[in-house]
Amino acid sequence: MTEHVRIENRGGILTLTLARPDKKNALTDAMYGKLADTIESAEFDPSARVLLIRGEGDMFTAGNDVGEFAAVAAGKSEGSRNVVRFIQSLARCTRPLVAAVQGRAVGVGTTMLLHCDLVVLAETALLSTPFVNLALVPEAGSSLLMPLRIGHARAFEMFALGEAVDASSALAWGLANRVVKPEALDAEVRGLAARLARQPAGAVRTTKRLMRNAEQLMAQIRTESAEFAARLKTAEAREAFMAFAARRPADFTKLADT
Ligand code: COA
Repeated sequence: MTEHVRIENRGGILTLTLARPDKKNALTDAMYGKLADTIESAEFDPSARVLLIRGEGDMFTAGNDVGEFAAVAAGKSEGSRNVVRFIQSLARCTRPLVAAVQGRAVGVGTTMLLHCDLVVLAETALLSTPFVNLALVPEAGSSLLMPLRIGHARAFEMFALGEAVDASSALAWGLANRVVKPEALDAEVRGLAARLARQPAGAVRTTKRLMRNAEQLMAQIRTESAEFAARLKTAEAREAFMAFAARRPADFTKLADT
């Protein structure tokens, strides 16, 4: 449902709000589509000087809609058409990307932050990438970007054990620019975005381009996407999604390594 993503363009800031709070802003194919369309078209809109991503409610996002993953695992769907387009639009985006995160940022909720240029966390923020818990693998270029950002040891632990990192660790590890009280999050991030919007747009874009290797990222995203799609169809993944639906812990111990 496209109304699950709200778009607002004001004062040079194009705000993309994840607005599905009853499902913890879990991202559906339709939501990825709207996000990708907006980020792609912002490239041709001179009034969109800064892009700001935020989530409504008590959480940034619980990540990909697990029901949509489960449908692929059960052979009932070919999977999201738009997720890779969304990820590619982030990797290619030449405008500065700013994010405001309160509560949990799960899976792609955390990996999208690696494509953002300024990240502000509320003290409540908890970043996690539990792909392996779901018998999946890292996506959105994160298998490249995460170890580059925080080092292999921390990145492997985040991916393989899936535990959440709190706001102060995320700040110390370089995953965020600052941590503020939850009630100050909106004002802080809007203040930063407004300052960026007043900077010379050409110099900001060129600086970003010099700092990010879009070609290398696109190649990594292609490799990850192929692995991810293959993992979705494994017995391990079926067990993970059945367990999520039944609200029980998954048991992978009887499954062979496939
Ligand atoms: N996909 C689909 N629905 C989701 C979802 C997701 N990723 N995350 C949460 N929801 C839904 C729940 O099923 C529930 O729906 P219901 O009210 O119809 O039962 C609703 O959102 C509220 O979630 P709930 O689990 O009750 O909230 P919580 O605060 O107790 O826990 C989370 C929040 C994020 C810790 C928990 O929902 C969770 O672990 N979600 C899955 C996260 C995940 O694995 N994402 C994929 C990463 S690759």
